[in-house]
Amino acid sequence: MAIEKLRVFGGHRLEGVTTVSGGKNTALAIIAAAAMSSEPCAIENLPDIEDIHVMRDILIALGAKVEMDGGVMRIDPSHLQGSSVPEHLACKLRASYYFLGALLARFGTSVVSYPGGCDIGNRPIDQHIKGFEALGATVETDHGRIRVQADRLRGSVIYLDMPSVGATINVMLAAALAEGNTEIVNAGKEPHIVDLANFLNAMGGSVKGAGTDNIRIRGVKRLKGCTYAVIPDQIETGTLMIAAAASRGDVLIRGALPTHMEALTAKLLEMGVRVDEGIGEDSIRVRSDGRHRRVNIKTQPYPGFPTDLQQPISVLLSTAKGTSIIHETIFEMRFKHLDEIRRMGGISRVNDRFAIIDGVPKLMGCPVKATDLRAGAAMVVAGLMAEGQTDIYNVHYIDRGYEHLERKLKRLGARIERLTEEEED
Ligand code: UD1
Repeated sequence: MAIEKLRVFGGHRLEGVTTVSGGKNTALAIIAAAAMSSEPCAIENLPDIEDIHVMRDILIALGAKVEMDGGVMRIDPSHLQGSSVPEHLACKLRASYYFLGALLARFGTSVVSYPGGCDIGNRPIDQHIKGFEALGATVETDHGRIRVQADRLRGSVIYLDMPSVGATINVMLAAALAEGNTEIVNAGKEPHIVDLANFLNAMGGSVKGAGTDNIRIRGVKRLKGCTYAVIPDQIETGTLMIAAAASRGDVLIRGALPTHMEALTAKLLEMGVRVDEGIGEDSIRVRSDGRHRRVNIKTQPYPGFPTDLQQPISVLLSTAKGTSIIHETIFEMRFKHLDEIRRMGGISRVNDRFAIIDGVPKLMGCPVKATDLRAGAAMVVAGLMAEGQTDIYNVHYIDRGYEHLERKLKRLGARIERLTEEEED
């Protein structure tokens, strides 16, 4: 079988203008939410990535009519019948579990296999289950499947032990069609949670307080169809910002929302990178030359430093002057990419939730692998920085989450190409 890889020749400055795509994580939640109405929805500004294709396939398998045209997905869920997500699709991504909340809300029952997603640590779903039970559902797990059922869902107060993005979203979905009022205390505040709330409200739902740690949902009898454009991808924006800094480049990122990027911007400024917000437009310009200063990073729920940008920035720090300490508080196994960076000459050691990175003057290209989705983007950053040729394997991870990444980087001046092992012979 052909093995795809990305080949990057490092040392080329990124220069010019690029545009960020629609948000992956927000789109995944919104596509699942569209299944809660019996009327058609059009969702715009979707990225053309594998995870979105899988969500489309799940909707089709459940009986919806789905058309994709450019970045627009038209979903007609009026004949949606099934409430069981096929296992082979559920296991492809984490967000398949949003169908638990969405189908429970619409049909009173849902069955989804334990979701897939990146192997970045133990990823329990106890807070989702607690939320469904608080709303009056029974939850059973057997043979790797989660079955949620309720004759009636009734609003409730749900305290999350941690501000879980996924649990906040699943409870919002289920509560949107429940009887009465629901309050999520210690809710996630991520931009995609706000975007989902806006989408539910555009469908006629009543969600208030999204973006704070207290979300209040008044259940409605039905949700109607609507047209909605998802927000730009915060993580892609951050990855492009880091890539620009890594190449000592000068890049204007259009369609980005600077307010979502404050934690990363603060750290890049500390490192000596110039970051300017566009005046009168949604854009961010990143400029950098010379060696960067070391910084410490602690990942936290939004508005703290996002764990999804920890891997790319730790690569950038691998050539900063001095020692940087990264404290990963969200996922306990999110340092596997540093093994690959050590192959490229990086110096780091990992102790439990901490990574200590001693900056080296440069990385050297070599074959590496993407160990998960965000680690894939981190390897691309490493390739841009390194001297010589870096071959990145496990490209499918990158394809799950980044729209046309190599095309965007190429237009900015990167030397990057997609190859299969056969093409090389
Ligand atoms: C989402 C994002 C992922 C991002 C993560 C943190 C999607 C599809 N994925 O993942 O890209 O890295 O947020 O910003 O949007 N936890 C529990 N019990 C639960 C739920 C979560 O213990 O029931 C723990 C997790 O193990 C983790 C922490 O809470 O340590 C945060 O997880 P969560 O915010 O739920 O992440 P995801 O929704 O899986």
